[in-house]
Amino acid sequence: MSPPEKYIPALSYDRLTPLFDPLLRWSLRELELKRRLIVQAQIESGQRVLDLGCGTATLTILIKQTHPAAEVFGLDGDCKILGIAEAKVAKADVTIALDHGLAYELPYPDRSFDRVVSSLVIHHLTTENKRRAFNEIYRVLRPGGELHVLDFGRPHNLYTSIVSPLIRRLEEAADNVQGLLPEMMREAGFDQVEVTRRFTTIFGTLALYRAWRPA
Ligand SMILES: C[S@@+](CC[C@H](N)C(=O)[O-])C[C@H]1O[C@@H](n2cnc3c(N)ncnc32)[C@H](O)[C@@H]1O
Repeated sequence: MSPPEKYIPALSYDRLTPLFDPLLRWSLRELELKRRLIVQAQIESGQRVLDLGCGTATLTILIKQTHPAAEVFGLDGDCKILGIAEAKVAKADVTIALDHGLAYELPYPDRSFDRVVSSLVIHHLTTENKRRAFNEIYRVLRPGGELHVLDFGRPHNLYTSIVSPLIRRLEEAADNVQGLLPEMMREAGFDQVEVTRRFTTIFGTLALYRAWRPA
């Protein structure tokens, strides 16, 4: 199935997808930041966890390896990258459900997850689709469930301020760089929305976000 219009693949262009893992590892302190995202999510035994926009499933596999008693799902809208994810999941010998679907039309029932985590996906969505995605995440989280996001954020020091004009033009990252994600999460109904950490990377500020669906 071909992706819908305005769909931005992992490295913007479909033919670059096989380079995604090596590039990310080199450029974005990948494993360190993904591990911090997992620590922040405080996943408990038996919880259902969705990795939204799982890509090649690096984060999804780490979650399952860190919390073997959690039920872990990865969703992505790109069949090609899901093929890479499937091979990695098989090699890691873990049980993860990989699903094809769109962040703003989630193929899951209401209140079906305890945690939704997402790494470097929200900046791929247009402003309207970011709002739709946050509404959908809210819908599939159970009351008291949590959203944890790693993605671009407002610049927080001299270097990230200098590179921010470039990052604003990257994919659909302008909302992130303007610091609009927390307000969008609140508009979807989330409470206790926080930027918990900011990191300097060569591509500017990456931020960890946390949001809670009221119990
Ligand atoms: C930069 S990659 C990040 C992958 C992974 N989360 C990680 O951190 O390694 C962005 C991913 O979001 C997916 N994506 C983009 N738009 C999407 C959408 N509307 N619905 C679902 N997935 C989407 C892409 O296919 C890609 O796999």
